[in-house]
Amino acid sequence: MQYKKLWIGFWTVVVLSFIVLGYYGAELYRLAPPVPDEVVTTDGKVVWEGQQILDGQNVWQSIGGQQLGSIWGHGAYVAPDWSADWLHRECVWLLNAWSETEYSKPYSELDAAGKATLDDRLKREMRTNTYNVDSKQIVISPDRARAADAMSRYYAALFGDAEEFPEDVQFIADGGMTPSELRSAYAMPKNTIRDPERQELMNAFFFWTAWVCTTERPAEEGQVISGAVDKLAAEPSAPVTYTNNWPAERLVANAPSGAVVVWSVLSFVLLLAGVGLLAWYYAVLKSNEEEHTDLPPRDPLLALSPTPSMKATLKYFWVVIALILVQVGLGAVTAHYGVEGEGFYGIPLADYLPYSVTRTWHTQLAIFWIATAWLATGLFIAPAVSGHEPKFQRAGVNFLFVALLVIVVGSLFGTWYGTRQQMGLTMNFWFGHQGYEYVDLGRFWQLFLLVGLFLWLGLMVRALWPAFKQPGEHKHLLAMFLVASTAIAVFYASGIMWHRQTNLAIAEYWRWWVVHLWVEGFFEVFATVVIAFLFTRMGLLKTTTATAAVLFSSTIFLFGGIIGTFHHLYFTGTPTPVLALGAMFSALEVVPLVLIGFEAYENLTLTRAKPWVTAYKWPIYFFVAVSFWNLVGAGLFGFLINPPIALYYMQGLNTTPVHGHTALFGVYGMLGIGLTLFCLKGLASHKRWKTGILAISFWAINFGLALMVLISVLPVGLMQTWASVEYGFWYARSADFLQTDLMDTLRWLRIVGDTLFAVGIFGLTWFVLGLKTGWSTTDDEEPLFERAKQEPEWVTAT
Ligand code: HEM
Ligand SMILES: [Fe+2]
Repeated sequence: MQYKKLWIGFWTVVVLSFIVLGYYGAELYRLAPPVPDEVVTTDGKVVWEGQQILDGQNVWQSIGGQQLGSIWGHGAYVAPDWSADWLHRECVWLLNAWSETEYSKPYSELDAAGKATLDDRLKREMRTNTYNVDSKQIVISPDRARAADAMSRYYAALFGDAEEFPEDVQFIADGGMTPSELRSAYAMPKNTIRDPERQELMNAFFFWTAWVCTTERPAEEGQVISGAVDKLAAEPSAPVTYTNNWPAERLVANAPSGAVVVWSVLSFVLLLAGVGLLAWYYAVLKSNEEEHTDLPPRDPLLALSPTPSMKATLKYFWVVIALILVQVGLGAVTAHYGVEGEGFYGIPLADYLPYSVTRTWHTQLAIFWIATAWLATGLFIAPAVSGHEPKFQRAGVNFLFVALLVIVVGSLFGTWYGTRQQMGLTMNFWFGHQGYEYVDLGRFWQLFLLVGLFLWLGLMVRALWPAFKQPGEHKHLLAMFLVASTAIAVFYASGIMWHRQTNLAIAEYWRWWVVHLWVEGFFEVFATVVIAFLFTRMGLLKTTTATAAVLFSSTIFLFGGIIGTFHHLYFTGTPTPVLALGAMFSALEVVPLVLIGFEAYENLTLTRAKPWVTAYKWPIYFFVAVSFWNLVGAGLFGFLINPPIALYYMQGLNTTPVHGHTALFGVYGMLGIGLTLFCLKGLASHKRWKTGILAISFWAINFGLALMVLISVLPVGLMQTWASVEYGFWYARSADFLQTDLMDTLRWLRIVGDTLFAVGIFGLTWFVLGLKTGWSTTDDEEPLFERAKQEPEWVTAT
């Protein structure tokens, strides 16, 4: 049987991919950049205890962590990347200190020979790995300890409330600005950290993250890094730092490694090969396909009379719309902080609701409403598919609803309260701000949400179960739907694999298990299967065709998607094979996206298949938008930053939110809205919609999204890329570069796209509100449908 083969293919890909992902995870535990027991100087002074580094990581998390600036390129884009910023300024300080002692003048006044001597000394000082495995100490020179001390005072002034930097560190200040000018440029309020002790801990952590970026990874036993080069050149070869030489920083000779270049080129070629192969497969498929002509003459969904539990999902969709509104509002505030760091048109909002919090809420809410829309859709279609309403299903749906509300409100409050710096570090981990982008919520809330997801799964399984007992081919599609739903719940659990003081490199590995495996793995599967599901339910697609297509494309998505996780981990302290595998497999993710036009066109044609289908025109249009943004946002803008050589320079620049917005909103946001509309229609399918406002909303949302990135975020990102290649990553993220007039104008231009987008969201809200008040429906009803005749073959609703 054809399905059996497809299933074997699917499970083979999944199992083998996870073996690879897991194997290199284990390698990472072995080879992660070490957190030392102590940082000491060559003359025996203890600079920091290892415990201070770990506590400092917790302090950094408590102020919002990745939501305020970034570390190793992961996080927010307005404040600097602290690891790159520390590294660069520490180097500048050192060069000047040496120059003053050796030549009694600043480094900038040295002649070329003098500079070359010091540059060379700096490279050796910074790149040499002085971690002693036996004593677990990092040993640094007294000079470097003084540089670290200067950096500590620089950051203390910045994160506190100083008006001036200490005199001896003013010369390393970003753009020569004062602390308060920089706080404004970085969108961080005064006293982001109040307690000097906490500040000192965070300095220890920042030092360590910069040390990781510049320290060469030790050669593994038996590994010959440079056999040939050793014989030819006096200088030994060029080993890489723990971060594969990221960030671009001339002062410490951080430049793209051989692996970065080679695997980038190969990934392009592999992508082309994949596209060729898939095009061939589609051509074969097309020629074997039989026409699906027996489309139902009337809407089979009209036969649907919602069960009590289906009706109970209505409030989920209300909440979806409310959360979108809040999320978009917070997005506007967050974007505004990019041009006015301490307030909102003069209102000193940042004192109460700083950038780090609005950005946290903005990104968390995105996940919350998208998830809510999907969960509700699952709950809505499960009884419809099986025709079975289990006992207490409605109570379960209502209970889950309350639980989700508590999680949303509780976790958002926690992230705000955490940044107020009034919780202990342990409390903050459990209930406050974890500081890890997209999983910012406290551990307690994470666990709570995990329970909620399993509850959801349970509710769906019990409603769907009878459908499995019915004979027919629909089971395969159902099974894939269950696989995707189960995976969504199960993989959220990867988020509890890190603990409060887990090495950041390892925490990042698990964080991307959650984020990447969701969005580029099981969400894609869920999206494909749920849309196919609805179309088969409507009788527009044959179950056999849909099943084969879904099984095949799920396998393709996961083939690239699972190991593709590594594209987030090129530069986070992982060994080099991770980079190679990440580049190759994530390039394959783009293959099905490039060819998604086939699917989009088919869906578009469906809207014209029979007159009754026009009633679903707009939900289906949102599904077509899902395909469009899958191509543009995920495929093109994803691949823009994906090859290691691209991400080497672009990691943490505005090119990433170009992709983030167009992929996360473009694909899954559009799907969430499409599903919401679909279910709202299903809940009262006999009512005819007035769709004028929906049409405006659809186009405003899509054009708004396009404009937002095309005239603002993308140009900023590309100019930053240029700066990063020319001068180094630290510069692309500096106030020095970002506070120029041109950059400011480009950031202001966001308002055009953002406003259009907001108009679309208001339109949507207005429309949905009108379903309640009646202004979105007409008085005449959709023509009634005789159920018995036109049910899709596998629906035996009773
Ligand atoms: C619908 C599918 C996708 C969604 C929803 C999505 C979403 C995201 C999000 C939210 C981020 C983080 C943005 C930020 O930190 O501000 C991200 C980063 C990234 N994505 Fe995607 N993505 C998708 C598909 C893809 C594809 C197909 C590729 C390329 C093969 C890709 C490559 C990347 C890369 C290279 C990064 C940056 C790496 C990093 O900073 O760790 N993504 N994506
Ligand atoms: Fe990814």
